[in-house]
This record gives sequence, structure tokens and C-alpha cells, in this order.
Amino acid sequence: MQRRRIMATNTKYAANPALIFTCGIVALLPIIILCLLVTASRVRAQKTTKSPDCLDTAQSQGELNECAFGKASQADHELNQTYQAILQKYSDRAVFIDRLRKAQRAWLTFRDAQLEMMFPSGEGAGSVEPMCYGLYKAELTQQRSKELRQWLTGIEEGDVCCGMKKELIELRVNGRRHELAVEPSELLLDVLRRDLQLTGSKRGCDDSSCGACTVLVDGVPTLACTMLAFSAAANGPVTPDITTVEGIADHGALAAIQKAYGDWGGAQCGFCTPGFMITVKALLDRNPEPTEDDIRHALSGNLCRCTGYTQMYQAIKAAIAAEQGR
Ligand code: FES
Ligand code: FES
Repeated sequence: MQRRRIMATNTKYAANPALIFTCGIVALLPIIILCLLVTASRVRAQKTTKSPDCLDTAQSQGELNECAFGKASQADHELNQTYQAILQKYSDRAVFIDRLRKAQRAWLTFRDAQLEMMFPSGEGAGSVEPMCYGLYKAELTQQRSKELRQWLTGIEEGDVCCGMKKELIELRVNGRRHELAVEPSELLLDVLRRDLQLTGSKRGCDDSSCGACTVLVDGVPTLACTMLAFSAAANGPVTPDITTVEGIADHGALAAIQKAYGDWGGAQCGFCTPGFMITVKALLDRNPEPTEDDIRHALSGNLCRCTGYTQMYQAIKAAIAAEQGR
């Protein structure tokens, strides 16, 4: 009888799955909690651990180059975000925004000049060079981002817009030497127009496409809107020779091209004319008998928004004939 009662009790427990499940859960609870804690700490660790630097994981020079360019474009992206944030924050301060835009443009030109100085096009091309170029560009850009971020968080306005110290440079323009105090980021065009009052060279665009600012630097047509005044300054025994449109008059008389432009109506509003004249002078200096193709090729970097170029070509041909008739 006693034995039957025990068996009945056992049968009752064995037949209750809910009770068995509950007991199992209770028994496993510490293990489940432990697993959850471990998983959470792993997720946290993954979030806080930096992903490995692509420079460390790259398997080939190609991957290293790709990594460096990735860093440069990431730096550009961050710089742009900070710049936009400043523009937005100070959108109601028109003068400041205008100065900031100029400062940023000048900085971009300055960065390009620094890159060009370190990695002159066509020189020393090697498989490592793209990586060095990308890393240097990223570094320069990160420095600028840092400055702008400091500004955004409350450093004085001057640090971003006019904080650069001026330095003395010497320029030789149209045969005369000038000593000037300029900021390292100043463009040659601005120094010529503002400091030397040589306003013949014009600013016609913001993207190096019109040629209105063309001057000669050691006889080579050069866009003064993309050259730093520092780059054209005396450096030791070397003093570049800068010629503006004001300097191409021939011993006080009009140079042949200037006269021909007047005679043939080569200009309408005249805004582009100084750039064209400088380019033509450079062409005639190196090639006194250019063909039609030579002329068109030489002038391909100068834009005119008024004329159809026909009178210009006639004026240029007349200038060539005048030069040859000397
Ligand atoms: S102003 Fe220099 S190219 Fe247009
Ligand atoms: S004459 Fe007007 S832009 Fe050339």
C-alpha cells in the first residue's frame, strides 16, 4: 500500500511539464544572465575598440595608396562639415562670412601650393608617392579642421580670418622692385591690384578658368589668381620677373598688340583684354611667326564673354605683321 502511494506521487510529478520547465529555467537562470552579461560587454568592447588602421592592415602598396587617399577624403569631408557649421552659425554676420569665404579660398590655394611644392607634378613619380601625397594632404586638412573647430567653439575671429602674420617680401614687377608686407596666403593678383595699384589684371572667375588675371612670370603666362605672392617673391639670389599688362608697353609707346586691338576692335567691354594681351605677348616672344593653330592653341585658356574672337584673331595677326615689319 505504502509502495503504491509513492509510485502515485512520482507519477503526479512526472506528469507535470510546467513544473519541470519552471525548475529548468530556475536552474539555468544564472547561466543565462552570465551569457547576457558577457555578450553585452563584448558589444560594448567592440564599440569602444577602434577599427584597425588601414595603413597597418594594407597588404600591398596599392592598398596603402588607397588608404592614404581615403584618409585625405575623410579629412576633406570633416573640414567641409566644420566649415558649413561655421557658415550656419554666423549666417547673420555678412562681413564675417565674406572674410571667412576668402580665407578658406586662400587656404585651399595655399594647401595646393604646399602639395605642389612637396610633390611637383611629373617629378619623382614612384609607387610610394601617391601614399605620401594622400597622407600629407590629410595632415594639412586636419590641421585646418582643427583651427576651424577651435573657432567654432570660441577662439577669436582673427585666428581664422586675419590672424596670419604679415611678412616682408620683395616682388619685381614690370622691371621695378617692391618691398611689401603680405600674409603668406595672399594671392599675387590681390597684391598686384591692391598693394601696387596695378589694376589691369582682372579677376573674372573664382575657379581658374577665365584667364583674365594672366601675368607673365619669367616670361611664362601665369594665372595670378592661383599663385601666392610668396611664390613669386625674391628667394635668395632668384627674383622672378613679373610682367603685367601695364608693363608690356614698348618704351612708352603701345606695344603692337595693344595698338592692333584698338585698330581692329578686338575688345568690346575689355574685361578679358589684359589677359589676352599678356598671352599673345608670351606667344609672340617665343614664336614670332605663329600659325592660326598656334594662336588658337595659345589663347585656349582665355575666355571672352563678349566677342566671337574673330576681331581678336585679326588684331593678333595685324600685331604679328607689325612686329615683322619692324
Ligand atoms: S581670375 Fe584668374 S583665371 Fe579667372
Ligand atoms: S571683350 Fe568683354 S569679356 Fe572680352
